[in-house]
Amino acid sequence: MTQDLSIIILAAGRGTRMKSNLPKVMHKVANREMLNMVIDEAKSLNPKNVTIVISDEMTGVEDLVTKSHPEIAISFAIQKERLGTGHAVSCALENITDIGQKVLVLYGDTPLIEKETLRKMQNKLDDFALAILGFENFAQNAYGRLVINGDRLEKIVEFKDANEEEKTISLCNSGVIAISGDKITELLAQIDNKNAAGEFYLTDIVKIANENGLNSSFIITNEEEVLGVNSRLELARVEKIKQRKIAQKMMENGVTLLDPESIYFSFDSEISNDVIIHPNVFFGPKVKIASNVEIKSFSHIEGAQIAQNAVIGPFARLRPGSKLDENVKIGNFVEVKNSQIGQKSKINHLSYIGDCDLGKNSNIGAGTITCNYDGYNKFKTNIGDDVFIGSNSSLIAPLNIENGALVAAGSVITKNISQDDLAVARAKQINLEKGGEKFRNNKSNNKND
Ligand code: UD1
Ligand code: CA
Repeated sequence: MTQDLSIIILAAGRGTRMKSNLPKVMHKVANREMLNMVIDEAKSLNPKNVTIVISDEMTGVEDLVTKSHPEIAISFAIQKERLGTGHAVSCALENITDIGQKVLVLYGDTPLIEKETLRKMQNKLDDFALAILGFENFAQNAYGRLVINGDRLEKIVEFKDANEEEKTISLCNSGVIAISGDKITELLAQIDNKNAAGEFYLTDIVKIANENGLNSSFIITNEEEVLGVNSRLELARVEKIKQRKIAQKMMENGVTLLDPESIYFSFDSEISNDVIIHPNVFFGPKVKIASNVEIKSFSHIEGAQIAQNAVIGPFARLRPGSKLDENVKIGNFVEVKNSQIGQKSKINHLSYIGDCDLGKNSNIGAGTITCNYDGYNKFKTNIGDDVFIGSNSSLIAPLNIENGALVAAGSVITKNISQDDLAVARAKQINLEKGGEKFRNNKSNNKND
């Protein structure tokens, strides 16, 4: 069911403290841009429109964000001058022709916000014209303070404008706010910039609502959920929390993590039950793992699909386009890229397998390299079922190695191999009788010292 809901996300901040060429909200947490994380949560409420306030120098944001959420309509409002959070929401409203009965305002740099909380905020509007998401913080901080009376919210005082008594209030403003869509425009119009910062504070809307005879309330969440990111340090802090949350969910779903804190996941890691992950494993984007797979330490995995009962690592690298079937084994110092590995095939040691289609029950010996690149183009290596590639072989693509073929160790293979044939492509060995002894004698007779 589509809710009659508009979502506005403020993201026009400069983010100077990030010291970055990238807009702040495009920095990633668990491999997802912060702004996209906020949208991911927001869109589960089925809003009828999502409007993002950005500044005119934030190039690339519109494209990337639109592509990341093809199923919803997102529009962008440009805030030319950064005159405050109230002004930013006004800019969004100018863009919205069809405002929802309820409006949620979120921040693009507060990426840990959860849909359950947003739902509670939305529900609060059944009884109140306005609701604020607050949190308790007893340390010294510069957040806006919530002045409450029972379950009513009287006003928000920005720290800069607070008196000594107000500064001691521990209930802080997260910035997330829910407002009735019928009222937002008229209330916003009453905000001025007569304050310590000379900005149009969105937070003033609480006092204004009360003055207009409307009731305001609040919800309290934990501080973690509403942590904002202004610096790399805060980005790292938020990343840590996100990783902990993903790991927790994994374990709840039946994944064994031998040392959860040492494993790095992506927002989209799909890992089935009874997978065992050893310490120090990294998952980049687009990884999908079926049940009973074991991933051993120090493996780096991205863009890979792994079927049941496979064993990966330690020290394996699976790059994008790796597709491993059931019972495959990938061992230490093996790199696989853009390759399909058939059931029960093994690549156990020190190999590079790229742009390769490998069949079932084949064994790739230690040190085998698919030479897939000539400096200009990439070429494919096709290897059939029940093939045995001897250790330290170079397979110069393009190449077809048919079912049951055998390659002698140390071969440099440049020609196709037919079914069940044996290819030996290395220099013939010659043994010189007593050659070793002669060599030694010769050397010791001609010693310098
Ligand atoms: C704001 C709140 C404060 C709250 C705090 C929580 C106001 C006046 N104050 O303060 O009560 O405790 O957030 O973090 O709202 N933005 C724009 N355009 C602007 C100004 C801001 O898009 O002109 C965006 C920023 O990108 C950011 C968000 O709005 O995502 C908050 O702005 P920021 O300047 O960080 O507000 P604070 O002063 O921290
Ligand atoms: Ca802030």
